[in-house]
Amino acid sequence: MGALYRALLPEGVRARARPFIYAGDTLFRAALWRAAAGRVATGPFCGLRLAPRPYLPHLLGTYERELHPVVDALCAREWKRIVNVGGGNGFYIAGLGMRCHDAELVVFELEPTAREVIRATLARNGLAERSRVLAAAEPPGLEAACAGEGPTLVVMDVEGAEVELTDTQAVPALRRTTLLVETHEFAKPGCRELIELRFTSSHRITAIDTAPRTVADFPAELAPLVQRVARERCAAAVQEWRPEAQSWLLLEPR
Ligand SMILES: C[S@@+](CC[C@H](N)C(=O)[O-])C[C@H]1O[C@@H](n2cnc3c(N)ncnc32)[C@H](O)[C@@H]1O
Repeated sequence: MGALYRALLPEGVRARARPFIYAGDTLFRAALWRAAAGRVATGPFCGLRLAPRPYLPHLLGTYERELHPVVDALCAREWKRIVNVGGGNGFYIAGLGMRCHDAELVVFELEPTAREVIRATLARNGLAERSRVLAAAEPPGLEAACAGEGPTLVVMDVEGAEVELTDTQAVPALRRTTLLVETHEFAKPGCRELIELRFTSSHRITAIDTAPRTVADFPAELAPLVQRVARERCAAAVQEWRPEAQSWLLLEPR
């Protein structure tokens, strides 16, 4: 049935029909967007303006909540530049830019449509002027972005490409850079150990593991009526749907 529907109707028509077919989901998302006034509701980036139709854990502010203390601590420090590798929809680069007022912002993102969302998110938060939105990161481009005087923070989430992008032979500037790297063992088995090995003599290493999500993660103050009538949707809204447990590595130069 689904295949027939896809064969008969072009994607443009299907995209316009989706809000009606999934009316419950559309209403739920609209209620949350309205309750949060289009801004991140909680967490280190609370108040950040998002582009429409956000990923719900971003809107709720629960996204990667394991990292919230680390992100808060990083935001309390002064950075000359912040480099986000794998920008997605701009949640991290705009959030970090909102918190770190003087930092130059550089974001690498492979997908052109995602780059448009990043630009829109940066503009909504008045961050466009101190930002550069670049295409796919490769070692020479990352080296150029990280080189220069002053402290650099790199936040990296690139679905396995962290193996080549944390190679300090190819990107020597990383030897004096603070990094927060999401590791993707399911895509690149052994990548966490490899990265730890690369940085063990130059950096202090802290590993942070993902934790399960439950409805208790849903922000208590947000949309109380929605929470009463749509508890299952609220429980689903905080999920990040990872294929397996994952880790981040915080790498701080010694
Ligand atoms: C899981 S998403 C990042 C999500 C992000 N942490 C957030 O807050 O929304 C990973 C992103 O990395 C991008 N990506 C993968 N390889 C890349 C590369 N070599 N350079 C830049 N972006 C890359 C993908 O297009 C994707 O948008």
